[in-house]
Amino acid sequence: MIEQHLNACKARVEACLVAQLNQLPRSEVQLADAVAYSLKVGGKRLRPALVYSAAASLRADLTLFPPNLTPLDLAAAAIESIHTYSLVHDDLPAMDNDDLRRGQPTVHRQYDEATAILVGDALQAWAFELLTQIDTLPADKVLAMVKELAQASGPKGMVLGQALDMRATGVFESADYLKQLHSLKTGALIRSALRLGAYCMNAGPKERRVLSAYGDAIGLCFQVVDDILDVTTDSATLGKTAGKDQEADKLTYVKLLGLEGAKAEAQHLCAQAKASVGDLPNPQVLVELADYICNRAN
Ligand code: IPE
Ligand code: IPE
Ligand code: MG
Ligand code: MG
Ligand code: MG
Repeated sequence: MIEQHLNACKARVEACLVAQLNQLPRSEVQLADAVAYSLKVGGKRLRPALVYSAAASLRADLTLFPPNLTPLDLAAAAIESIHTYSLVHDDLPAMDNDDLRRGQPTVHRQYDEATAILVGDALQAWAFELLTQIDTLPADKVLAMVKELAQASGPKGMVLGQALDMRATGVFESADYLKQLHSLKTGALIRSALRLGAYCMNAGPKERRVLSAYGDAIGLCFQVVDDILDVTTDSATLGKTAGKDQEADKLTYVKLLGLEGAKAEAQHLCAQAKASVGDLPNPQVLVELADYICNRAN
């Protein structure tokens, strides 16, 4: 059931991404090719699924595959674009220095470092352009969505988390520091995906608060599981190099709490997320998604 839902979300966002990528100008430089490469090589499309799932939890009917792009499709594509930019830059030699991403060579390996920097730059700006293409919601709603994504991804959100991550590499920090770092570098975009879905549905402040609380818990849970998978799973299954965190001496939940402690923390956060959504009109999809995020294999 959840697999079917995730596949349907994936198909919808990928159709939107391909349609939009086809509109990028081709030129003598490989920028559009490299942008398309970064997005098309795969990925679970989890953040898009959260956009659609937030809407489903507020009774959006996702069974119809609409002929035209909807606000949900553009919001889902926008957040996947920001997320992919964050991965392209995360993999750069100056950051995590990774060769493998989504089962393929990282962008700086496939092309070169300058191209990877520019792909990230391009994806970041493009995400906001996608949001501004929403023309079936009032302009003030679209503006609120632009602000939402900007705050979650910029110097108050994901980028701040990445800066905290770089600083904590090779040194030990407190549990509070790690919680803040993970909540920002990964949680902020996950929470934002849910809030974007809520905006598309014209949700009220109470529903937005519930979805934000779910996002806080499941966003942190997602990164705790990422830390666990780095030590328990092989590179082929992950589609990225396993064992990198220990090699780089990253501060992770496994380093802080040990493997069993990290697993218990992930379960605790998952339960917290599930308990938070009971008052939504259709919480089941978010409950199943929380279990998927906590128990995933890659
Ligand atoms: C990886 O995210 C980076 C983190 C924030 C932990 P995902 O595990 O969602 O990566 P893709 O999109 O499926 O490749
Ligand atoms: C990445 O965290 C978070 C962002 C890209 C914002 P990680 O460095 O743990 O992600 P992976 O393990 O390389 O996917
Ligand atoms: Mg990193
Ligand atoms: Mg990394
Ligand atoms: Mg990781």
